[in-house]
Amino acid sequence: MNEPYAIETKNLTKKYKRTLAVDHLNLQVPRGALFGFIGRNGAGKTTTLRMLAGLLEPTTGEVWVNGERVEKKSRNIHRLIGYMPDFFGVYDDMFVWEYLDFFARCYGLPPARRKKLIDELLDLVNLTDKRDANVQALSRGMQQRLCLAHALIHEPQILLLDEPASGLDPRARIEMRELLKELAAMGKTIVVSSHILPELAEMCSHIGIVEHGKLVANGDTNAIRRQLQASRILRVRVLTDSVRALELLQSARGVGEPSVVAATEHSTTLEMEFQGDDHAAAMVLAELVTRGAPIAEFSEGGNALEEVFLQLTTAENA
Ligand SMILES: Nc1ncnc2c1ncn2[C@@H]1O[C@H](COP(=O)(O)OP(=O)(O)OP(=O)(O)O)[C@@H](O)[C@H]1O
Ligand SMILES: [Mg+2]
Repeated sequence: MNEPYAIETKNLTKKYKRTLAVDHLNLQVPRGALFGFIGRNGAGKTTTLRMLAGLLEPTTGEVWVNGERVEKKSRNIHRLIGYMPDFFGVYDDMFVWEYLDFFARCYGLPPARRKKLIDELLDLVNLTDKRDANVQALSRGMQQRLCLAHALIHEPQILLLDEPASGLDPRARIEMRELLKELAAMGKTIVVSSHILPELAEMCSHIGIVEHGKLVANGDTNAIRRQLQASRILRVRVLTDSVRALELLQSARGVGEPSVVAATEHSTTLEMEFQGDDHAAAMVLAELVTRGAPIAEFSEGGNALEEVFLQLTTAENA
């Protein structure tokens, strides 16, 4: 028998009065996956994650964790899952260590174990030197990391993180990404939501894209990438006028008809459709250079991943 998924949903559906927030969702998250759950605002990410965490009752459909159906009263699901919500106020007047200690007590951990665990967690989320700071005095990025530590306190196998990078500056986003990779390397199954596809595609082993509560793509990241490589755009800037540029780029192997997107007397930017992987793109560049094209820039036109995302999320619902 195949190993069960860490998380599987079967026709998971949530209806709020008039809104169908999650619509017959069939998600499959393999064990050990770092799963990127992507969708625009209002797509149904938070609603789905809350149902997976056992915090919200589905209208219909099923959630399975490690091959077992989660019933209304299954308490042990809370033991297996750590959940970090999208919004959290750390309003309490507490020290950082006290905050974590409070939750560790809730899980009934004995004092010696608590101390060790809190030290480890603070080290993991890089807050050791803030151990005695007041939680309210932490920056947003630090609070987010503290909440991650909170989600980890009962050492769950599965982590559900709702937009853990939102509101962080670019550096803090990178740090959060590294932290998630580290947790994945520790063997945890992680579901992380975001509305930014490229950010997740870079680190996630699997991706699910949700739109209007429906899953429009689901699979390992490479499969999604292949989907996108079927329609890439190459952008080239050549240091010639547009007539010469078109001559030089005409009928290069594997690329479509070039079209001029910007031109001056001495510089022309062209775009062409292209089918192939990065190696094929390198061959195209080599061929153009051999032809004597003075190429100043060679890149992917637009953001390919972002485009696939837009295609996937608009075609069906236009
Ligand atoms: N408690 C609620 N009552 C009524 N409708 C709700 C409730 N929570 C969510 N919705 C609706 O369900 C849909 C999905 O919302 P959800 O919060 O799951 O989306 P999301 O993908 O998390 O969006 P965001 O990126 O903005 O966080 C939206 O149309 C939203 O208005
Ligand atoms: Mg949300």
